Amino acid sequence: MTKSIIKIWILNLISILFVMLSLTHGRPINPEFRVKAVNLGGWLVTEGWMKPSLFDAIPNKDFLDGTGLQFKSVTTGKYLCAESGGGTILVANRTTASSWETFRLWRINKETFRFRVFNKQFVGLDDINVVAVTNSSTDSVTFHIVKENDNSTLVRIKASNGYFLRAKTEELVTADVSNVRGWRDDDPTVFEMTIAVRLQGDFQITNGYGSRKAAQVMKDHWSSFIIEDDFKFIASNGLNAVRIPVGWWIASDPTPPWPYVGGSLHSLDNAFLWAHKYGIKIIIDLHAAPGSQNGFQHSSSRDGSQEWGKSDENIEQTVDVISFLTARYVKNPSLYAIELINEPLSPGVTLESLNKYYKAGYDAVRKHSSTTYVVMSNRLGPSEPKELFPLANGLMRCVIDVHYYNIFNDLFENMTAQQNIDFIYNNRSSELNFITTSNGPLTFVGEWVSDWRVKEATKEDFQRFGKSQIDVFGRATFGWAYWAFKNANQHWSLEWMINNGYIML
Ligand SMILES: *[C@@H]1O[C@H](CO)[C@@H](O)[C@H](O)[C@H]1NC(C)=O
Ligand SMILES: *[C@@H]1O[C@H](CO)[C@@H](O)[C@H](O)[C@H]1NC(C)=O
Ligand SMILES: *[C@@H]1O[C@H](CO)[C@@H](O)[C@H](O)[C@H]1NC(C)=O
Ligand SMILES: *[C@@H]1O[C@H](CO)[C@@H](O)[C@H](O)[C@H]1NC(C)=O
Ligand SMILES: *[C@@H]1O[C@H](CO)[C@@H](O)[C@H](O)[C@H]1NC(C)=O
Repeated sequence: MTKSIIKIWILNLISILFVMLSLTHGRPINPEFRVKAVNLGGWLVTEGWMKPSLFDAIPNKDFLDGTGLQFKSVTTGKYLCAESGGGTILVANRTTASSWETFRLWRINKETFRFRVFNKQFVGLDDINVVAVTNSSTDSVTFHIVKENDNSTLVRIKASNGYFLRAKTEELVTADVSNVRGWRDDDPTVFEMTIAVRLQGDFQITNGYGSRKAAQVMKDHWSSFIIEDDFKFIASNGLNAVRIPVGWWIASDPTPPWPYVGGSLHSLDNAFLWAHKYGIKIIIDLHAAPGSQNGFQHSSSRDGSQEWGKSDENIEQTVDVISFLTARYVKNPSLYAIELINEPLSPGVTLESLNKYYKAGYDAVRKHSSTTYVVMSNRLGPSEPKELFPLANGLMRCVIDVHYYNIFNDLFENMTAQQNIDFIYNNRSSELNFITTSNGPLTFVGEWVSDWRVKEATKEDFQRFGKSQIDVFGRATFGWAYWAFKNANQHWSLEWMINNGYIML
């Protein structure tokens, strides 16, 4: 009798100690559990290169939001340029084109656009002179781009006052020509157009199709790109988690603000059902924050600009998204972690505003859950690898996310397969060691891929490269996640890499 009471008492004590340990120590209950995850990129947040066909049926698909156009006058032989990058007149006197000579489209409809210049002003008119002084999109002039024919690079630009632009002299661009004829090379209304930049993200696809058509296109995509069988495949191939990139507008589903469309929340609900069924953990990753945290298409920038974190309202709006997502899924045992924001870019995102957001975002998660891991992405761009430690050290179940690619840097341009592999075992390994400490935050290689700039690599080279990364990134204390599960480019599709024996888990 007394023996069994003591036994129960001891058992209780042990379990209380165990719970206390797991709460205070900030580590998973089983310290050997590390995520081996795959990113479900291209599913809830769109990127054209993952599934190019999504963009095929957009009317006038060359002219999506953010497309950067350059115009060379056929008469001056020089490029149109927003003098000083904006704030004054347009000229036509530049022999080469880069940022000041690039005009970013804001698409009104398939043939009407506003032009935004380097310093963010919109192109407009001062009487007949073409200028770039207004900051306001709504009272700027709109333009039509008239092509000679579908395949030609020759264009005219017609302003909403009904007149065509012309390079009157190298230093004077006006909108004052009403009648045009032919495409002769002595006609100052004719320009040779080059597409210098394209963006293919969520803003582009939804505004490109228009909200009504986009709703159908996205619904079809969400219901076919990732399905239940994929979770089954993921679970049966040695993976234990998925990282799911989502856009901020998911929190106002089913009626998100223009141009976004509803339905991504329903797909995330499905992910939680399937993950639960197949024993997979989910890391929700806020990949696109309001205003864009890096200017890239995958954060749904409209025109390449980066506005996130510049006001308290903007940060609060983002915290609300985190709060919404945590509250919605906290009862599902598959919810494992919330990543507060993906790849904020320095110096546009300052460490000060990021710390402010991370602290508030962490508190928003903790309000609903003491166990969900909170993932903080290191900044891209000029930044220190341990810059988040002062904040993270004081928080529980906090994870630092770093993304390691041997591709987005000219450093890798001429490296052989072996040099790439050595780089992983030596250089990446030290980078990861540096941030992996016994009492600091956990570490996560939240994105990597078995692809590189090596030409003519053999299958065996790929296998060794994949293995080197799994060996090294497997030492990250939180784990790793491959980018991505499906992709039009085979090496970026873990499904393809597994099915074809290029990666062995
Ligand atoms: C546009 O914005 C810039 C930077 O905020 C400011 O310096 C400029 O005065 C503004 N221009 C107008 C016309 O309001
Ligand atoms: C444009 O190019 C396409 C494909 O190369 C061709 O089929 C079409 O005839 C061309 N159209 C014109 C107007 O040159
Ligand atoms: C182009 O014209 C503007 C306006 O006259 C002038 O300030 C600028 O120096 C010129 N630039 C070049 C490269 O000629
Ligand atoms: C790679 O090789 C090319 C051709 O030899 C050279 O022009 C380039 O500078 C090299 N790049 C780097 C990063 O070393
Ligand atoms: C990798 O690390 C080694 C040893 O520290 C260093 O000499 C080398 O320059 C690094 N390689 C690259 C490509 O940065």
